[in-house]
Amino acid sequence: MLFFLISCFSFSFILLSPMKSSQWRLLFSSCFWKDLSSWLQKGISFYQVPMIIKKKMMMMMMSLGSSKKPENNVVVEEEEDEEKKKKISLLDLPELTLECILEKLSPDGLCNMSAVCSSLRDMCTSDHLWEKHMKHKWGRLIGDAAYREWQWHIASKQRETLINQTKHNGFFRSLYGLIRPKLDQKTTTTTCLPVDSIMACYVSLESGKFWFPAQVYNRENGNIGFMLSCYDAQLSYDSRTDTFLARYSPHGRRTIEENIAWGRLRAPPIDTPAHVLHISDSLNDLKPSDHIEIQWRRNKEFPYGWWYGVVGHLDSCDRNENHCRCHYSDMVILEFNQYPPGSRWRQTTINRKDHREVGNEADGFYGGIRKLYKEEEISMWKSLRPSQIHE
Ligand SMILES: *[C@@H]1O[C@H](CO)[C@@H](O)[C@H](O)[C@H]1NC(C)=O
Ligand SMILES: *[C@@H]1O[C@H](CO)[C@@H](O)[C@H](O)[C@H]1NC(C)=O
Repeated sequence: MLFFLISCFSFSFILLSPMKSSQWRLLFSSCFWKDLSSWLQKGISFYQVPMIIKKKMMMMMMSLGSSKKPENNVVVEEEEDEEKKKKISLLDLPELTLECILEKLSPDGLCNMSAVCSSLRDMCTSDHLWEKHMKHKWGRLIGDAAYREWQWHIASKQRETLINQTKHNGFFRSLYGLIRPKLDQKTTTTTCLPVDSIMACYVSLESGKFWFPAQVYNRENGNIGFMLSCYDAQLSYDSRTDTFLARYSPHGRRTIEENIAWGRLRAPPIDTPAHVLHISDSLNDLKPSDHIEIQWRRNKEFPYGWWYGVVGHLDSCDRNENHCRCHYSDMVILEFNQYPPGSRWRQTTINRKDHREVGNEADGFYGGIRKLYKEEEISMWKSLRPSQIHE
Protein backbone atom coordinates (compact mmCIF):
# COMPACT_ATOMS: atom_id res chain seq x y z
CA MET A 1 0.00 0.00 0.00
CA LEU A 2 2.72 2.37 1.05
CA PHE A 3 4.61 1.34 -2.03
CA PHE A 4 1.65 2.25 -4.13
CA LEU A 5 1.38 5.67 -2.47
CA ILE A 6 5.00 6.39 -3.17
CA SER A 7 4.67 5.52 -6.80
CA CYS A 8 1.64 7.77 -6.97
CA PHE A 9 3.54 10.57 -5.32
CA SER A 10 6.46 10.29 -7.65
CA PHE A 11 4.19 10.28 -10.71
CA SER A 12 2.29 13.31 -9.57
CA PHE A 13 5.62 15.04 -9.00
CA ILE A 14 6.59 14.27 -12.54
CA LEU A 15 3.23 15.40 -13.84
CA LEU A 16 3.36 18.70 -11.99
CA SER A 17 6.81 19.69 -13.14
CA PRO A 18 6.69 21.93 -16.23
CA MET A 19 8.09 20.13 -19.24
CA LYS A 20 8.06 20.30 -23.00
CA SER A 21 6.37 17.50 -24.88
CA SER A 22 9.70 16.18 -26.06
CA GLN A 23 10.75 15.83 -22.46
CA TRP A 24 7.58 13.95 -21.68
CA ARG A 25 8.38 11.52 -24.40
CA LEU A 26 11.83 11.07 -22.99
CA LEU A 27 10.39 10.53 -19.58
CA PHE A 28 8.27 7.70 -20.81
CA SER A 29 11.05 6.23 -22.88
CA SER A 30 11.52 2.51 -22.63
CA CYS A 31 14.59 2.51 -20.41
CA PHE A 32 12.78 4.36 -17.65
CA TRP A 33 9.92 1.90 -17.76
CA LYS A 34 12.38 -0.99 -17.69
CA ASP A 35 13.89 0.33 -14.47
CA LEU A 36 10.52 0.96 -12.95
CA SER A 37 9.21 -2.49 -13.72
CA SER A 38 12.42 -4.17 -12.59
CA TRP A 39 12.27 -2.68 -9.13
CA LEU A 40 8.58 -3.35 -8.94
CA GLN A 41 9.37 -7.00 -9.58
CA LYS A 42 12.22 -7.10 -7.13
CA GLY A 43 10.10 -5.44 -4.48
CA ILE A 44 12.66 -2.78 -3.58
CA SER A 45 12.41 -1.49 -0.08
CA PHE A 46 10.54 1.64 0.81
CA TYR A 47 13.70 3.64 1.59
CA GLN A 48 15.31 2.93 -1.69
CA VAL A 49 12.39 4.08 -3.78
CA PRO A 50 12.70 7.82 -3.42
CA MET A 51 16.46 7.57 -3.94
CA ILE A 52 16.09 5.77 -7.23
CA ILE A 53 13.41 8.08 -8.49
CA LYS A 54 15.39 11.08 -7.31
CA LYS A 55 18.44 9.83 -9.14
CA LYS A 56 16.50 9.27 -12.31
CA MET A 57 14.88 12.68 -12.06
CA MET A 58 18.19 14.40 -11.43
CA MET A 59 19.70 12.79 -14.48
CA MET A 60 16.82 13.81 -16.57
CA MET A 61 16.80 17.40 -15.35
CA MET A 62 20.50 17.70 -15.98
CA SER A 63 20.25 16.39 -19.50
CA LEU A 64 17.35 18.68 -20.24
CA GLY A 65 18.96 21.69 -18.65
CA SER A 66 22.02 21.71 -20.87
CA SER A 67 21.45 20.94 -24.51
CA LYS A 68 25.05 19.85 -24.95
CA LYS A 69 24.68 16.92 -22.60
CA PRO A 70 25.17 13.94 -24.90
CA GLU A 71 22.00 12.10 -24.00
CA ASN A 72 21.10 10.23 -27.21
CA ASN A 73 17.34 10.69 -27.10
CA VAL A 74 17.57 14.42 -26.64
CA VAL A 75 19.86 14.85 -29.63
CA VAL A 76 17.44 12.91 -31.81
CA GLU A 77 14.57 15.06 -30.61
CA GLU A 78 16.40 18.24 -31.43
CA GLU A 79 17.33 17.03 -34.89
CA GLU A 80 13.69 16.32 -35.56
CA ASP A 81 12.78 19.82 -34.46
CA GLU A 82 15.42 21.27 -36.76
CA GLU A 83 14.13 19.18 -39.63
CA LYS A 84 10.61 20.39 -39.01
CA LYS A 85 11.85 23.94 -39.17
CA LYS A 86 13.65 23.28 -42.47
CA LYS A 87 10.70 21.46 -44.06
CA ILE A 88 8.56 24.47 -44.89
CA SER A 89 5.71 23.27 -47.04
CA LEU A 90 4.71 25.15 -50.18
CA LEU A 91 1.40 25.79 -48.48
CA ASP A 92 3.16 27.62 -45.62
CA LEU A 93 4.15 30.39 -48.02
CA PRO A 94 2.18 33.63 -47.88
CA GLU A 95 -0.82 33.43 -50.17
CA LEU A 96 0.44 36.14 -52.50
CA THR A 97 3.82 34.45 -52.93
CA LEU A 98 2.17 31.14 -53.70
CA GLU A 99 -0.10 32.88 -56.22
CA CYS A 100 2.95 34.35 -57.96
CA ILE A 101 4.52 30.91 -58.23
CA LEU A 102 1.35 29.34 -59.59
CA GLU A 103 0.94 32.13 -62.13
CA LYS A 104 4.35 31.19 -63.55
CA LEU A 105 3.34 27.58 -64.14
CA SER A 106 2.45 26.21 -67.56
CA PRO A 107 -0.95 24.54 -68.05
CA ASP A 108 0.82 21.20 -67.75
CA GLY A 109 2.47 22.29 -64.51
CA LEU A 110 -0.82 23.50 -63.07
CA CYS A 111 -2.46 20.18 -63.90
CA ASN A 112 0.35 18.29 -62.20
CA MET A 113 0.27 20.57 -59.19
CA SER A 114 -3.50 20.22 -58.84
CA ALA A 115 -3.02 16.50 -58.29
CA VAL A 116 -0.88 17.02 -55.17
CA CYS A 117 -3.51 17.74 -52.53
CA SER A 118 -6.94 19.24 -52.15
CA SER A 119 -5.67 22.70 -51.16
CA LEU A 120 -3.43 22.90 -54.20
CA ARG A 121 -6.18 21.52 -56.37
CA ASP A 122 -8.54 24.28 -55.29
CA MET A 123 -5.88 26.86 -56.07
CA CYS A 124 -4.61 25.37 -59.32
CA THR A 125 -8.06 24.90 -60.82
CA SER A 126 -9.22 28.45 -60.15
CA ASP A 127 -10.42 30.39 -63.18
CA HIS A 128 -8.17 33.39 -62.78
CA LEU A 129 -5.06 31.23 -63.28
CA TRP A 130 -6.49 29.63 -66.40
CA GLU A 131 -7.94 32.71 -68.09
CA LYS A 132 -4.46 33.73 -69.27
CA HIS A 133 -3.64 30.27 -70.67
CA MET A 134 -7.03 30.03 -72.32
CA LYS A 135 -6.69 33.42 -73.97
CA HIS A 136 -3.12 32.76 -75.06
CA LYS A 137 -3.70 29.44 -76.75
CA TRP A 138 -7.40 29.42 -77.62
CA GLY A 139 -8.52 33.04 -77.56
CA ARG A 140 -8.27 33.44 -81.33
CA LEU A 141 -10.34 30.35 -82.09
CA ILE A 142 -12.90 30.12 -79.35
CA GLY A 143 -15.59 32.58 -80.32
CA ASP A 144 -19.13 33.10 -79.09
CA ALA A 145 -20.39 30.06 -80.96
CA ALA A 146 -17.78 27.77 -79.40
CA TYR A 147 -18.48 29.26 -75.99
CA ARG A 148 -22.20 28.54 -76.37
CA GLU A 149 -21.35 25.01 -77.46
CA TRP A 150 -19.24 24.60 -74.33
CA GLN A 151 -22.11 25.79 -72.12
CA TRP A 152 -24.37 23.28 -73.82
CA HIS A 153 -21.71 20.60 -73.33
CA ILE A 154 -21.56 21.37 -69.59
CA ALA A 155 -25.33 21.33 -69.25
CA SER A 156 -25.63 17.96 -70.98
CA LYS A 157 -22.86 16.54 -68.78
CA GLN A 158 -24.65 17.72 -65.66
CA ARG A 159 -27.92 16.29 -66.94
CA GLU A 160 -26.19 12.99 -67.63
CA THR A 161 -24.77 12.93 -64.10
CA LEU A 162 -28.23 13.57 -62.68
CA ILE A 163 -29.72 10.77 -64.76
CA ASN A 164 -26.95 8.43 -63.64
CA GLN A 165 -27.61 9.38 -60.03
CA THR A 166 -31.28 8.65 -60.51
CA LYS A 167 -30.38 5.23 -61.87
CA HIS A 168 -28.05 4.45 -59.00
CA ASN A 169 -29.58 6.20 -56.04
CA GLY A 170 -33.24 6.22 -56.83
CA PHE A 171 -35.57 9.06 -57.60
CA PHE A 172 -35.80 10.69 -54.17
CA ARG A 173 -32.08 10.96 -53.67
CA SER A 174 -31.67 12.81 -56.96
CA LEU A 175 -34.66 14.98 -56.18
CA TYR A 176 -32.81 15.91 -53.05
CA GLY A 177 -29.83 16.71 -55.28
CA LEU A 178 -32.03 19.08 -57.25
CA ILE A 179 -33.27 20.78 -54.13
CA ARG A 180 -29.80 21.08 -52.67
CA PRO A 181 -27.69 21.58 -55.77
CA LYS A 182 -25.02 23.51 -53.86
CA LEU A 183 -24.31 20.60 -51.59
CA ASP A 184 -24.06 18.27 -54.55
CA GLN A 185 -21.73 20.58 -56.40
CA LYS A 186 -19.45 20.72 -53.42
CA THR A 187 -19.12 16.98 -53.25
CA THR A 188 -18.36 16.72 -56.94
CA THR A 189 -15.71 19.46 -56.81
CA THR A 190 -13.83 17.59 -54.15
CA THR A 191 -13.69 14.44 -56.23
CA CYS A 192 -13.11 15.80 -59.74
CA LEU A 193 -12.56 18.92 -61.77
CA PRO A 194 -15.50 21.37 -61.63
CA VAL A 195 -17.11 20.97 -65.05
CA ASP A 196 -17.88 24.67 -65.47
CA SER A 197 -14.31 25.83 -64.80
CA ILE A 198 -12.07 27.38 -67.45
CA MET A 199 -9.55 24.64 -66.72
CA ALA A 200 -12.13 22.00 -67.60
CA CYS A 201 -12.73 23.76 -70.92
CA TYR A 202 -9.00 24.03 -71.59
CA VAL A 203 -8.38 20.38 -70.76
CA SER A 204 -11.31 19.27 -72.93
CA LEU A 205 -10.00 21.30 -75.85
CA GLU A 206 -6.46 19.97 -75.46
CA SER A 207 -7.62 16.39 -75.22
CA GLY A 208 -9.73 16.75 -78.37
CA LYS A 209 -12.81 15.56 -76.51
CA PHE A 210 -14.62 18.83 -76.99
CA TRP A 211 -15.58 19.42 -80.63
CA PHE A 212 -16.04 23.13 -81.12
CA PRO A 213 -17.44 25.15 -83.99
CA ALA A 214 -15.05 27.25 -86.06
CA GLN A 215 -14.39 27.99 -89.72
CA VAL A 216 -11.79 26.43 -92.01
CA TYR A 217 -10.14 28.36 -94.85
CA ASN A 218 -9.57 26.53 -98.13
CA ARG A 219 -11.59 23.56 -97.04
CA GLU A 220 -10.27 20.17 -98.09
CA ASN A 221 -6.86 21.65 -98.66
CA GLY A 222 -5.72 21.08 -102.21
CA ASN A 223 -9.25 20.90 -103.52
CA ILE A 224 -9.40 23.85 -105.92
CA GLY A 225 -13.19 23.79 -105.68
CA PHE A 226 -12.88 25.44 -102.28
CA MET A 227 -10.05 27.88 -102.97
CA LEU A 228 -10.50 31.18 -101.09
CA SER A 229 -13.53 30.06 -99.16
CA CYS A 230 -14.15 29.54 -95.48
CA TYR A 231 -16.54 26.88 -94.21
CA ASP A 232 -18.12 26.12 -90.88
CA ALA A 233 -17.02 22.89 -89.25
CA GLN A 234 -16.80 21.09 -85.94
CA LEU A 235 -13.19 20.82 -84.88
CA SER A 236 -11.20 18.60 -82.58
CA TYR A 237 -7.63 19.32 -81.57
CA ASP A 238 -4.87 16.72 -81.78
CA SER A 239 -2.15 17.72 -79.32
CA ARG A 240 0.32 15.14 -80.65
CA THR A 241 0.48 16.75 -84.08
CA ASP A 242 -0.71 20.23 -83.02
CA THR A 243 -3.31 20.11 -85.80
CA PHE A 244 -7.08 19.75 -86.05
CA LEU A 245 -9.62 17.31 -87.33
CA ALA A 246 -12.61 18.90 -89.05
CA ARG A 247 -16.09 17.51 -89.51
CA TYR A 248 -18.07 19.42 -92.14
CA SER A 249 -21.79 19.30 -92.29
CA PRO A 250 -22.59 16.35 -94.58
CA HIS A 251 -22.94 16.95 -98.30
CA GLY A 252 -22.98 13.47 -99.67
CA ARG A 253 -19.22 13.66 -100.08
CA ARG A 254 -16.13 13.33 -97.87
CA THR A 255 -16.83 15.36 -94.78
CA ILE A 256 -13.81 14.71 -92.56
CA GLU A 257 -10.49 16.47 -92.99
CA GLU A 258 -7.33 15.80 -90.98
CA ASN A 259 -4.10 17.68 -90.25
CA ILE A 260 -5.51 21.19 -90.43
CA ALA A 261 -2.97 23.74 -89.22
CA TRP A 262 -3.85 26.59 -86.85
CA GLY A 263 -3.36 29.10 -89.65
CA ARG A 264 -6.30 27.74 -91.63
CA LEU A 265 -8.83 28.29 -88.86
CA ARG A 266 -10.77 31.23 -87.55
CA ALA A 267 -13.56 31.89 -85.10
CA PRO A 268 -16.73 32.77 -87.02
CA PRO A 269 -16.51 36.58 -87.43
CA ILE A 270 -20.27 36.98 -87.28
CA ASP A 271 -22.96 35.09 -85.51
CA THR A 272 -24.82 33.75 -88.56
CA PRO A 273 -25.22 29.96 -88.67
CA ALA A 274 -24.15 28.19 -91.85
CA HIS A 275 -27.74 27.58 -93.01
CA VAL A 276 -28.99 31.11 -92.40
CA LEU A 277 -28.85 33.99 -94.87
CA HIS A 278 -26.73 36.81 -93.49
CA ILE A 279 -28.42 40.19 -93.58
CA SER A 280 -25.95 42.37 -95.46
CA ASP A 281 -25.41 45.67 -93.71
CA SER A 282 -22.72 47.24 -95.89
CA LEU A 283 -24.35 47.13 -99.34
CA ASN A 284 -24.51 50.91 -99.71
CA ASP A 285 -20.88 51.19 -98.74
CA LEU A 286 -19.51 48.95 -101.52
CA LYS A 287 -17.24 50.56 -104.08
CA PRO A 288 -14.62 49.22 -106.51
CA SER A 289 -11.55 47.57 -104.92
CA ASP A 290 -13.36 46.86 -101.65
CA HIS A 291 -12.69 43.44 -100.19
CA ILE A 292 -15.72 41.35 -99.41
CA GLU A 293 -16.88 37.94 -98.27
CA ILE A 294 -20.11 36.58 -99.65
CA GLN A 295 -22.15 33.57 -98.66
CA TRP A 296 -22.43 30.97 -101.39
CA ARG A 297 -23.93 27.53 -101.56
CA ARG A 298 -24.20 24.90 -104.27
CA ASN A 299 -27.87 24.32 -103.73
CA LYS A 300 -30.50 25.18 -101.19
CA GLU A 301 -29.95 22.07 -99.06
CA PHE A 302 -26.27 22.80 -98.50
CA PRO A 303 -24.86 25.13 -95.86
CA TYR A 304 -23.28 28.41 -96.96
CA GLY A 305 -19.57 28.94 -97.12
CA TRP A 306 -17.94 32.38 -97.10
CA TRP A 307 -16.13 33.29 -100.32
CA TYR A 308 -13.59 36.01 -100.74
CA GLY A 309 -13.91 38.52 -103.55
CA VAL A 310 -13.35 42.13 -104.52
CA VAL A 311 -15.76 44.72 -105.83
CA GLY A 312 -15.09 45.43 -109.52
CA HIS A 313 -16.05 48.12 -111.99
CA LEU A 314 -19.14 48.03 -114.17
CA ASP A 315 -18.58 47.24 -117.84
CA SER A 316 -19.60 50.80 -118.71
CA CYS A 317 -16.90 52.28 -116.45
CA ASP A 318 -13.53 53.28 -117.94
CA ARG A 319 -11.83 52.51 -114.57
CA ASN A 320 -10.46 55.99 -114.33
CA GLU A 321 -10.65 57.04 -110.71
CA ASN A 322 -11.83 60.53 -111.58
CA HIS A 323 -14.71 59.36 -113.76
CA CYS A 324 -15.76 56.19 -111.93
CA ARG A 325 -19.38 56.35 -110.82
CA CYS A 326 -19.76 52.67 -110.02
CA HIS A 327 -20.59 53.29 -106.37
CA TYR A 328 -23.70 55.27 -107.40
CA SER A 329 -25.07 52.37 -109.40
CA ASP A 330 -27.53 49.92 -107.89
CA MET A 331 -25.67 47.09 -109.56
CA VAL A 332 -22.46 45.87 -107.96
CA ILE A 333 -19.94 43.68 -109.73
CA LEU A 334 -18.22 41.08 -107.55
CA GLU A 335 -15.03 39.49 -108.83
CA PHE A 336 -13.48 36.23 -107.74
CA ASN A 337 -10.03 36.41 -109.25
CA GLN A 338 -8.98 32.94 -108.18
CA TYR A 339 -10.93 31.77 -111.23
CA PRO A 340 -9.59 32.31 -114.74
CA PRO A 341 -11.20 34.84 -117.11
CA GLY A 342 -14.23 33.32 -118.73
CA SER A 343 -15.03 31.04 -115.78
CA ARG A 344 -18.65 31.25 -114.71
CA TRP A 345 -17.42 31.63 -111.13
CA ARG A 346 -15.20 34.61 -111.84
CA GLN A 347 -17.86 37.30 -111.68
CA THR A 348 -21.36 37.93 -110.44
CA THR A 349 -23.64 40.93 -110.22
CA ILE A 350 -25.88 41.84 -107.32
CA ASN A 351 -28.40 44.60 -106.72
CA ARG A 352 -27.46 46.65 -103.70
CA LYS A 353 -30.98 48.05 -103.29
CA ASP A 354 -32.68 44.70 -103.21
CA HIS A 355 -30.19 42.02 -102.42
CA ARG A 356 -31.48 38.66 -101.30
CA GLU A 357 -30.21 35.24 -102.15
CA VAL A 358 -29.62 35.14 -105.92
CA GLY A 359 -28.59 32.31 -108.19
CA ASN A 360 -29.68 29.04 -109.72
CA GLU A 361 -28.93 25.34 -109.52
CA ALA A 362 -26.16 25.62 -112.12
CA ASP A 363 -24.19 28.53 -110.70
CA GLY A 364 -25.10 28.11 -107.07
CA PHE A 365 -26.65 30.72 -104.80
CA TYR A 366 -25.05 33.93 -103.57
CA GLY A 367 -26.20 35.07 -100.12
CA GLY A 368 -25.33 37.85 -97.70
CA ILE A 369 -22.26 40.09 -98.05
CA ARG A 370 -19.77 41.35 -95.49
CA LYS A 371 -17.49 44.17 -96.45
CA LEU A 372 -14.06 43.59 -94.90
CA TYR A 373 -12.85 46.60 -92.97
CA LYS A 374 -10.08 45.05 -90.93
CA GLU A 375 -6.66 44.92 -92.55
CA GLU A 376 -5.87 41.61 -90.81
CA GLU A 377 -8.90 39.92 -92.37
CA ILE A 378 -7.92 41.16 -95.83
CA SER A 379 -4.28 40.13 -95.49
CA MET A 380 -5.36 36.68 -94.29
CA TRP A 381 -7.29 36.15 -97.51
CA LYS A 382 -4.41 37.52 -99.58
CA SER A 383 -2.01 35.08 -97.93
CA LEU A 384 -4.29 32.19 -98.94
CA ARG A 385 -4.48 33.22 -102.57
CA PRO A 386 -2.86 30.58 -104.79
CA SER A 387 0.25 31.67 -106.67
CA GLN A 388 -1.26 30.56 -109.96
CA ILE A 389 -4.83 30.64 -111.21
CA HIS A 390 -6.45 27.25 -111.60
CA GLU A 391 -8.68 26.17 -114.41
C1 LIG B 1 3.64 16.71 -65.46
O1 LIG B 1 3.64 15.34 -65.16
C2 LIG B 1 4.00 14.51 -66.27
C3 LIG B 1 3.85 13.07 -65.83
O2 LIG B 1 4.41 12.84 -64.61
C4 LIG B 1 5.43 14.84 -66.69
O3 LIG B 1 5.80 14.04 -67.79
C5 LIG B 1 5.51 16.29 -67.07
O4 LIG B 1 6.84 16.65 -67.39
C6 LIG B 1 5.01 17.17 -65.93
N1 LIG B 1 4.97 18.55 -66.40
C7 LIG B 1 5.46 19.58 -65.73
C8 LIG B 1 5.40 20.91 -66.40
O5 LIG B 1 5.89 19.48 -64.62
C1 LIG C 1 -23.35 7.82 -66.93
O1 LIG C 1 -23.43 6.43 -67.07
C2 LIG C 1 -22.95 5.94 -68.32
C3 LIG C 1 -23.14 4.45 -68.38
O2 LIG C 1 -23.82 3.97 -67.28
C4 LIG C 1 -21.47 6.32 -68.46
O3 LIG C 1 -20.96 5.89 -69.70
C5 LIG C 1 -21.31 7.81 -68.36
O4 LIG C 1 -19.93 8.15 -68.40
C6 LIG C 1 -21.91 8.31 -67.05
N1 LIG C 1 -21.84 9.76 -67.08
C7 LIG C 1 -21.47 10.51 -66.05
C8 LIG C 1 -21.42 11.97 -66.27
O5 LIG C 1 -21.20 10.04 -64.97
